Parts: sequence; C-alpha cells; structure tokens
Amino acid sequence: MSLLIKNGEIITADSRYIADIYCEDETITRIDRNLNAPAGAEVIDAKGKYVFPGFIDPHVHIYLPFMGTFSKDTYVTGSQAALVGGTTTLIEMCCPARKDDALASFDLWMSQAVGKSACDFSFHMGVTKFDATTETQLREIVRRGISSFKIFLAYKGAFGIDDTELYRTLKLARELGVTVTAHCENETLVAERCRELLAAGKTDPGQHHESRPPAVEAEGVHHLMTFAELTGAATYIVHLSCQEALDQAIAARQRGVRVGIETLIQYLVLDKSYAEKPDFEGAKFVMSPPLRDARNQAVLWNGLRDGLINTVATDHAPFDFEKQKPMGRDDFTKIPNGIPSLEERVNLLYSRGVKTGKIDLHTMVNVGSTAVAKQFDLFPRKGTIQPGADADLVVFDPNYRGTISAKTQHMNVDYSAFEGWPLEGRASTVTVRGQVAARDGKFTGTLGRGQYLRRTPSRF
Ligand code: URP
Ligand code: ZN
Ligand code: ZN
Repeated sequence: MSLLIKNGEIITADSRYIADIYCEDETITRIDRNLNAPAGAEVIDAKGKYVFPGFIDPHVHIYLPFMGTFSKDTYVTGSQAALVGGTTTLIEMCCPARKDDALASFDLWMSQAVGKSACDFSFHMGVTKFDATTETQLREIVRRGISSFKIFLAYKGAFGIDDTELYRTLKLARELGVTVTAHCENETLVAERCRELLAAGKTDPGQHHESRPPAVEAEGVHHLMTFAELTGAATYIVHLSCQEALDQAIAARQRGVRVGIETLIQYLVLDKSYAEKPDFEGAKFVMSPPLRDARNQAVLWNGLRDGLINTVATDHAPFDFEKQKPMGRDDFTKIPNGIPSLEERVNLLYSRGVKTGKIDLHTMVNVGSTAVAKQFDLFPRKGTIQPGADADLVVFDPNYRGTISAKTQHMNVDYSAFEGWPLEGRASTVTVRGQVAARDGKFTGTLGRGQYLRRTPSRF
C-alpha cells in the first residue's frame, strides 16, 4: 500500500516548503520534488493546500463516568470526530473512581478503545488514590506503555486526592520518569463557595464561574508547583484558563520547576458570558475551570505565540443539553461539567488563530501536534513530517468556507458550543499511518485500526 501527496505546502513546527510526500505502508519514506507514483499508489493532489503533521489532542475524555452520568462519545463516534477534524492521535484520561482498582481500570479503559478506535490513542493514568496496592499497579501500568499520570486537585470526594497522596504520587513519578498532569483548582475553596452560593439561592449556570474564580485556579497551580519543587517531579498543568494561573506557573518555571502548560481551544475563543446565557442555555458552557473574562483570551494567545504555553487541547467532555445538563437545572453544582470540542480544535486554531494573525502556522502545528508529541514521548514517530515518521498527515484547505453545526458534527452530542460559527479553512484529507481516514468532512477510515501507542518515560 502506498500513498503520494503531491504539490502541497508542507508546514512543520520549524519549516515551510513545497514538496511531495511518499508513504509506504504506514510510514513516510521520501520527501522530494517531482516524485512519481508507482502503479497502484493512491495519489492526492494537495496543490494550493497545506500539509500538516497529524494533530494530537493530549486531553480527551471518551469513557468518563462523572457526576452521576457518562460522557456521550464512544471510541466509535469520538475517533471519527477526531479524524474528520484533523486529529489523528488522542490521549485519553483514564479516570477511576477512588474505590476502583487502578489496574482493572486501566484494562477497562483500554477495552473501550481497542478494536473500536479509528485513530491512534494512549492514556494518562488517573491516580485517584495512592496506597501500596496502587503504587505496585502504577509501576505495572508504566511497564505497559504509559508515561504520564493524571491527578485532580478538584472534585472533592470523586477523583480528588489529598496532599499526602499528591506528594507520594509525585515522588513515584520522579523515580519512574513519568510526567504528572494535573487539574489545578483548590477543592476546599470550590466546595465552600458552592455552599454559600446555593444558600443564597443562586442556582443558575452563571454561578458556576462565581464558585471557582481565577484565584481558585491560581492557588491550585501554586499548590502543585510547591509539591513539584520539593519532589523534583515533571508536571503538566491541564486546561489552564487565566492570567492568574499562568503567572503562578511561570514563576515556578523560573524557580526551576519542570512544568508544561496546556490551554484549551474553548478558553481561546469563548468567554464566561456564554455560561450566563438565559433559560439554562449557559449549561452548555459549564466546565471546570470555568470560561473566564474575555481579557484572558489575549493572554492565552500571546502565551502560545511566545512559547509560555506549550499545547492546545480540548478536554473534550460531551454531555447532552436535553437529557444530561438538566441534572443541574435547579442546582448549578450538579450540571455535568464539560464541553464537546474534539472535532473543532484544529479548524478553530486556524480560523480564529492563524487567520486573525494571533499565531502563525508553525505555532499552530507546534501547539497542536509537535510540542504534544515531545511532551508525551511520541516524537518523532508522531508530531512531524519526516522520513521514518508515521504517515499521519492533514491536507488542509485554506480556501474552504463553511459553518459549524451540531447537525453535521460527528461527536455524539446534541449541541455544538460553536453553533453557526464560520470556518475559514478545514482539514480536507486526513491520513492515519498511510491510510486515508477522512475526506471533506466525512469519515472514510477503518474502525478498529487505531493503535495503542506505547510510551516510554523520559523525565528523569
Ligand atoms: O469540565 C470539565 N473539564 N470536565 C471534564 C473533567 C475535567 O475536569 O477535565
Ligand atoms: Zn479537569
Ligand atoms: Zn479533562
């Protein structure tokens, strides 16, 4: 099986040139001008289009038992949505409940993906308690190809861990060379503020961001950074949303703390006024940390441009507006937290970032693919275009014009957080390891072909 992509403008994190890309089986084998296709090769004309490395989403929820319900996608729907939107690899959060066994949970999450996913995948292993059994099992999970843990400083009583567990998790990660990814919000402050707001009769979705203002996130980041400083562990802050939290992370970095910083596409393009929409519509936009004041958008775009913020993810967590979000109709603390965005991240990075001059094409590739691959031990197999790399490629049409709508999306959820938004460009042909998996907004790949990507810890 061979594939030739001709005349595209190849964009990597640090180069830009017109050439042909030849792929044999699953791998890029040649990049040059005027390559000829052997008989039987599939040829894609990319003239006038960009060719990007496949995008990698480092923060996705597919199977997520959470707040009394389950997020809506499966690997069948989620991987199709990812591919149509230009994401060829996703890293899912494996999130056991505190009572659950870590190894059994890892097997459960794996069983959701193997034989179903059309895109490649890996997991961050959630550490939602830390005891002797968990420690032994985490060592085994790392041997099985996991090089990052996930911890929550929020969600008291559900996923959240206490400070002793936090310290021991970071010590273990330091020993194993594993990166610890973390949801940073002070859970005590959240719990107290929720209690006060509800007692004052403030129950609507617009109260969600009042319960967790920027200082709550900044305190969570500062807390993690203190523990990282004392243990020497490599950390990665997921879904950073605001200036105050960024200031804490950068101050820690300047002290020598090892920390990667992720923001989300929704923080870059939405603000808290969406969660204040009347008639409960704001519930569509309830997530944690919450959407912020619009002033933070420039802070985050500038942070990406200047290299302070390393990656852009989705934290894709889809819950239906009709049937699931209303669990919190009379109490905002019961609204399932999360926004669907797996399908839109790449196209919005282009339309709202590159087209408006906030970031350049190389930054788009870096924060959406290359830096993710480097951060999570997938580079250079993933995250770039070079001989020997997996043939995960996105032919991107900058002349496409269209509109985002729930009616045409592949994510299995009944609304779009970006309904009616215009797109100026989109992923037009997407390949996974040499096979075309999406074309012009339609899935054309093979369910079950997605591979589990074994990763080796590198943060010693
Ligand atoms: O609101 C969010 N972010 N939902 C998904 C779970 C998490 O905190 O990542
Ligand atoms: Zn989170
Ligand atoms: Zn998440």
